[in-house]
Amino acid sequence: MRIYDVIEKKRDGQPLTKEEIQFFIDGYTNDDIPDYQASALLMAIYFQDMTEEERANLTTAMVESGDKIDLSAISGIKVDKHSTGGVGDTTTLILAPMVASLGVAIAKMSGRGLGHTGGTIDKLEAVPGFHAEITNSEFIDLVNKNKVAVVGQSGNLTPADKKIYGLRDVTATVNSIPLIASSIMSKKIASGADAIVLDVKTGAGAFMKDINEAKELAGAMVSIGNQVGRNTMAVISDMSQPLGNAIGNALEVKEAIETLQGKGPEDLTELCLTLGSQMVVLANKANSLEEARVSLKENLMNGKAFEQFKIFLASQGGEANVADSPELLPQADHKIELLSKQSGTVEKIIADDIGTAAMMLGAGRATKDSEIDLAVGIVLHKKIGDDVKEGESLLTIHSSRQDVEDVKEKLYASISISNAAVKIPKLVHDTITKY
Ligand code: URA
Ligand code: CA
Repeated sequence: MRIYDVIEKKRDGQPLTKEEIQFFIDGYTNDDIPDYQASALLMAIYFQDMTEEERANLTTAMVESGDKIDLSAISGIKVDKHSTGGVGDTTTLILAPMVASLGVAIAKMSGRGLGHTGGTIDKLEAVPGFHAEITNSEFIDLVNKNKVAVVGQSGNLTPADKKIYGLRDVTATVNSIPLIASSIMSKKIASGADAIVLDVKTGAGAFMKDINEAKELAGAMVSIGNQVGRNTMAVISDMSQPLGNAIGNALEVKEAIETLQGKGPEDLTELCLTLGSQMVVLANKANSLEEARVSLKENLMNGKAFEQFKIFLASQGGEANVADSPELLPQADHKIELLSKQSGTVEKIIADDIGTAAMMLGAGRATKDSEIDLAVGIVLHKKIGDDVKEGESLLTIHSSRQDVEDVKEKLYASISISNAAVKIPKLVHDTITKY
């Protein structure tokens, strides 16, 4: 086989065989195929797209390029959840213990990552003592014992995706549905779960800003998952404004604690119940979404989900009393209110701009090696559709520096207030279970 012929075939719009896709992935991972030929093939895929079968074959080839996590020593159906990323998305911290409180095994592999705030592991590390550097066998033992554990990404998972993603980044081929879907799904599948719930975000703070693109990506991932034998479904949820009220690491842990006690923001609670119900049904722990939702709500109100969270923190070295006394979490030196300059109704809170403001405070990583300030961030007091009076606080800035004029300017520019009727964005736009 020659890579030249594979490029030519895709360039001319013909589907590639499983063997041709495998040849490309193996050859590129082993450095037998040079960047210039891989770039040409990626660009051909960008323009010619891939069939559902090609997408599944591409995903499988990437999964097989590295280590796979074996979760078979954990009893029951292992369900994973993946979000395509947003601003202030605290759902994993809540979903993991909440769903585990109904007996579903949650074996979560998580990352740090770049972005407006840290990843799930950074957030959890705001709890003194918590650590996710555990061995695979400790991880499996913890899930068997407590139904929930989180481990940092380890080993050599999907090296083909790593290499291809780096190349896509510099060849203008990131924004391609077959390439994004196979990239995300290869990592999920290599992480070993039997079933996957996807939260595909849409709106200003999302990767897929347009709803139709979000639906297309969701459908592509659901198709791949189901073709390779992982029960997969997707929820399309809104990310035009930040989710919940808190954006920042320790601040989001506090918000997660409140939500697990049934006192969380309405939108965050609702999205967790929506995603959680899907996870419980996929794990066969309820017969219907309605039944799952009732049980999850019960466990938010009766303290079982909260108790599960404390067990989880303690089992990985965290000081669980932080959950009862969130003031023990890292605190910022300065708390500064952003006062509304006019009266009216909040019309827009542009999610990615709020995320950038959190980043300016030090809540996220700009590069792989930057340090995160776990204490800083933003707490919204108003969401879209809320009325506000001139001089009333829109949000509180938690900062380690006193002068935050640059952040305030960014925040004022990202919030608009109207005197006309305001349309509140729908939280859940769609649910995709078939392709
Ligand atoms: N996230 C990924 O992991 N891969 C992509 O291609 C895009 C977003
Ligand atoms: Ca939040």
